[in-house]
Amino acid sequence: MDGSGKQQQSLRDGLLNRQSVPPRLVDGPAPSQAEIDDMLAAAVCAPDHGAIRPWRFHVLQGEALVRLGDIFVEALKKRDPDAPRETIEKEQSRPLRAPLIIAACAKIDLSRVEKIPAVEQVVAVASACQNILLAAHDKGYGAMVLTGVNARDPHVNAAFGLEGPDELVGFIYIGTPSGPTFEKERPDPADFTTIW
Ligand SMILES: Cc1cc2nc3c(=O)[nH]c(=O)nc-3n(C[C@H](O)[C@H](O)[C@H](O)COP(=O)(O)O)c2cc1C
Repeated sequence: MDGSGKQQQSLRDGLLNRQSVPPRLVDGPAPSQAEIDDMLAAAVCAPDHGAIRPWRFHVLQGEALVRLGDIFVEALKKRDPDAPRETIEKEQSRPLRAPLIIAACAKIDLSRVEKIPAVEQVVAVASACQNILLAAHDKGYGAMVLTGVNARDPHVNAAFGLEGPDELVGFIYIGTPSGPTFEKERPDPADFTTIW
């Protein structure tokens, strides 16, 4: 590890100043392939009990986002065969709100759950998501994790190869911020901390 002050400052900036940028506030361009690779390299450095590597990342751009919209519509029609046209159109266009989505999934290794419960495996993927958010922030991109009903829908889960205890942890929408982001007030950690 490079212990230079510059790198530490960059990490501190990321940790304290990163904030989610909703899809309505991002646009193109998407990160380059090299930048996506770098974000995924950060993702697989997340803490991971037992080195299970439960994360599965699906990178979607261009036509793949249209296909994801198709999947959201198929799922909606299964949940609600009488869904109105506006709702169908909303689901179809939902993934098109950002130029890049990384879907972060947890493939639970059932042979390990006795020592490493499913929740710990999901936490590893959640940590990977945070690394992606931080890497995106570091490169000047805006990103946000979203789930909603689609992340818990069996049809959507199957499209990502998930079954049983597997989880679709989140859809990370990523793009270039279309305007300035406003400083967010953060809570006082003391309100959540007990000194033993
Ligand atoms: C797993 C997960 C799923 C989330 N799903 C949604 C969502 O569907 N809709 C939403 O508005 N925020 C969702 N959030 C919250 C946002 O990603 C974000 O964390 C929140 O708006 C706070 O913004 P901040 O990251 O700037 O603190 C989710 C967060 C996590 C960790």
